[in-house]
Amino acid sequence: MQRAEVTDEVWAALLALSAGKRAGPRAGWPPEARAAWALYAPLAADGRGGPYLFAQVGQSLDGRIATLSGDSTAISGPDGLRHLHRCRALADAVVVGVRTALGDDPRLTVRLVEGPNPARVVIDPRGRLPDDAQVLRADGVRRIVIQACRRPRPRGVEVIELPAADGWIAPAAIRTALAGCGLARVLIEGGGVTIARFLDAGLLQRLHVAIAPLIIGTGPSGLRTAPVTRLADALRPETHVYGLDSDVVFDCVLAPAGSARMSRWPTLQPEPIAASRA
Ligand SMILES: NC(=O)c1ccc[n+]([C@@H]2O[C@H](COP(=O)([O-])OP(=O)(O)OC[C@H]3O[C@@H](n4cnc5c(N)ncnc54)[C@H](OP(=O)(O)O)[C@@H]3O)[C@@H](O)[C@H]2O)c1
Repeated sequence: MQRAEVTDEVWAALLALSAGKRAGPRAGWPPEARAAWALYAPLAADGRGGPYLFAQVGQSLDGRIATLSGDSTAISGPDGLRHLHRCRALADAVVVGVRTALGDDPRLTVRLVEGPNPARVVIDPRGRLPDDAQVLRADGVRRIVIQACRRPRPRGVEVIELPAADGWIAPAAIRTALAGCGLARVLIEGGGVTIARFLDAGLLQRLHVAIAPLIIGTGPSGLRTAPVTRLADALRPETHVYGLDSDVVFDCVLAPAGSARMSRWPTLQPEPIAASRA
């Protein structure tokens, strides 16, 4: 595990890279600053050659993203929360499922670090999100609802209607629609169902799992992907691990940009973290 320290200089360089400028690590940076660059530069750099979708989930040691009652605000420690806000600042858009929007009423803004606010997107196939939800408030940031029904939204909110099969909208159609809106670099923020849909569809290029040292006991799990019966069939992404003081981030490299479907990794793929688990 490498300790990552996002100094002001590192963050300024990452924001510059994200804005399309030439930026890179400086020769004199210490290892912690270089580690921070390695963690965030893929998010800052990609998206210009086509859609780049990444997810981040903050979870407990026992893999929960909320309590049974839906309390999820304090799962991540202070550095995990700053990490989430950095991920938002580097994205063109942040996407949540309607259950997160209903349960948490999140603002989805960048408040804990310097940086731009991404467009806010809610997947609400059945039109359940109330008009006064915080994600829809008019604050100069684009607000988009993806739905599978006819449902008028407040003035200024963009609506994307997509077909659903058995209640589910194809994640690839969502990716295409967002790219059509000029939103190529997209953070899928949660909850677990929403991330799992994109993961199972092989559309995530990167997955950050930020683990905080608390044990909840029960509650929704972070990644509710299609289960496997044999460990040989488990997804074993190439993973780099970064210490952010209060939280540990597993940076999982998934499908290369543009691939339509990621096959589960072959068992012969060398992967140090999975090997030590086994
Ligand atoms: N710790 C964290 O990092 C974190 C982050 C975000 C959220 N959370 C927590 O996660 C919990 C909510 O997560 P969740 O997994 O239950 O729900 P969720 O992912 O927030 O929302 C799922 C719902 O969104 C809609 N949806 C998402 N993708 C869709 C698709 N491809 N097609 C059609 N509909 C789609 C569906 O709405 P319908 O139900 O209307 O069909 C689906 O049931 C909350 O407790 C929240 O606090 C934690």
